[in-house]
Amino acid sequence: MADYDVIIIGGGPGGYNGAIRAGQLGLKVACVEKRETLGGTCLNVGCIPSKALLHASEMFELARKDFGGLGIEVTPTLNLSVMMKQKADSVGQLTKGIEFLFKKNKVDWIKGAGRLAGAGKVEVTAADGSRTVLEARSIVIASGSRPSPLAGVVVDQNRIVDSTGALTLPQVPGSLIVIGAGIIGLELGSVWRRLGAKVTVVEFLDRITPGLDQETAKTLQRALTRQGMSFKLGSKVTGAVAGPDGVDLSVEPVAGGAIETLRAECVLLAIGRQPFTDDLGLESVGLGTDKRGYIETDHFRTGAPGVFAIGDVTHGPMLAHKAEDEAVACIELIAGKAGHVNYDVIPNVVYTYPEVASVGKTEEELKAAGVAYKVGKFPFTANSRAKVNHEGDGFVKVLADAKTDRILGVHMIGPDVSEMIGEYCVAMEFGAASEDVARTCHPHPTRSEALRQAAMGVEGWTMQS
Ligand code: FAD
Ligand code: NAI
Repeated sequence: MADYDVIIIGGGPGGYNGAIRAGQLGLKVACVEKRETLGGTCLNVGCIPSKALLHASEMFELARKDFGGLGIEVTPTLNLSVMMKQKADSVGQLTKGIEFLFKKNKVDWIKGAGRLAGAGKVEVTAADGSRTVLEARSIVIASGSRPSPLAGVVVDQNRIVDSTGALTLPQVPGSLIVIGAGIIGLELGSVWRRLGAKVTVVEFLDRITPGLDQETAKTLQRALTRQGMSFKLGSKVTGAVAGPDGVDLSVEPVAGGAIETLRAECVLLAIGRQPFTDDLGLESVGLGTDKRGYIETDHFRTGAPGVFAIGDVTHGPMLAHKAEDEAVACIELIAGKAGHVNYDVIPNVVYTYPEVASVGKTEEELKAAGVAYKVGKFPFTANSRAKVNHEGDGFVKVLADAKTDRILGVHMIGPDVSEMIGEYCVAMEFGAASEDVARTCHPHPTRSEALRQAAMGVEGWTMQS
């Protein structure tokens, strides 16, 4: 008899959601996590602490710049240690919440580093060095990802930080250079700019946020530039020298040209993340990784019988909700049910101000695939709720199949759009046409009316102006 039906390696959104679902389905399950706390990258050093700082820094900037326009006179001062403490408190409460859910669903948390030790076996090394071998009918790898390194730029978590270091800077740097205009760079760059740093973003490509709809990305770049963030696109960093007062960064135009030296008090390296498979014992079951370090899967099954992989360590967007969906589907498959993930409906959000939220295909993808589509678009400047809230920036854009009217993609930039994209995710899961949304009553006055108006725009009958 095996010790467990399922052992999951990693306690992030992939691992903990999988473990809880397994418990709910009556499987005997253990989750091996080597961190002191559950929740993985997302809860400890990712989604949650970054959103805590984004919220607090946005409130600070609103109080500093926008309250006056509402007739509220205040002069806020920053207390960074309180801001950091409230972030840590939220993280602590949420990671404890997962421990509670483990107990409630009879999940054993095995504390230590897990490695595959042959078919059906996981060896766990505890912090004190002691080793235990556990047996399971199925093993799920959910070991996540880590920041990608850049040659010549050594992260010391002091002058040169990665996202983890950027979540705990002890003081606001006078200047911050962000390497990489992706999601981490723009979110954490926004945090420190709002708190007072002069932020410059150096990006290899000639655009920000690759993969996002171009029009949306351009609108975001304009908004961030207006807020005071500077961009150096088409530029590559070739080296960094950290000293006691700051960092000298060598930057070269990608198209060729003279190298220049940029100086900043602090540098944030955010050029992507890579799968984490160190010391997992993959070879013990005949597995390896592909050239980019990912574990290859087919419906979560790896090439080794009884071994599955989910989340950031596998291909696809490195997002917590993608890991969570895969976890549930993978465990349901293991339990003999029909687990399924619809990769066409995985939303993506950038939590800057304005926020960006999207789901489905971009215009660029549809054009490349030769799909005929119609566009409905509605600006937040014409939305009454956004107007009274003094939130003008942005739009909602709906892309629908020119023949069938089926919604193919939705791209929004504006206030709180992260909270609104779910409506279109549901619509797309139901195979909705843009007319379905256009004819659905939405409450007035809300920003959500912009979702409907954009859908009405597909057939050209937008009404609010
Ligand atoms: P992880 O969360 O990385 O968890 C893997 C866990 O496995 C870790 O706790 C690790 O310690 C453990 N582990 C690894 N190897 C072993 C081993 N051998 N034995 C035991 N334990 C092991 N995504 C979003 O969707 N929304 C966001 O707003 C968002 N913000 C982010 C902000 C930042 C700054 C960062 C860095 C990431 C953010 N992400 C966000 C991405 C998100 O955090 C990841 O996609 C998500 O955490 C992936 O989940 P996972 O379970 O695959 O891996
Ligand atoms: P990213 O892939 O989003 O962006 C990295 C950027 O760095 C790209 O624009 C890329 O062109 C650029 N780049 C690469 N090499 C470079 C170089 N040498 N010099 C200059 N620029 C270079 O990666 P990022 O921002 O590190 O985030 C990693 C992942 O974490 C994201 O892709 C996302 O999956 C996840 N994440 C999600 C969040 C969310 O959902 N809101 C928030 C933060 C992270």
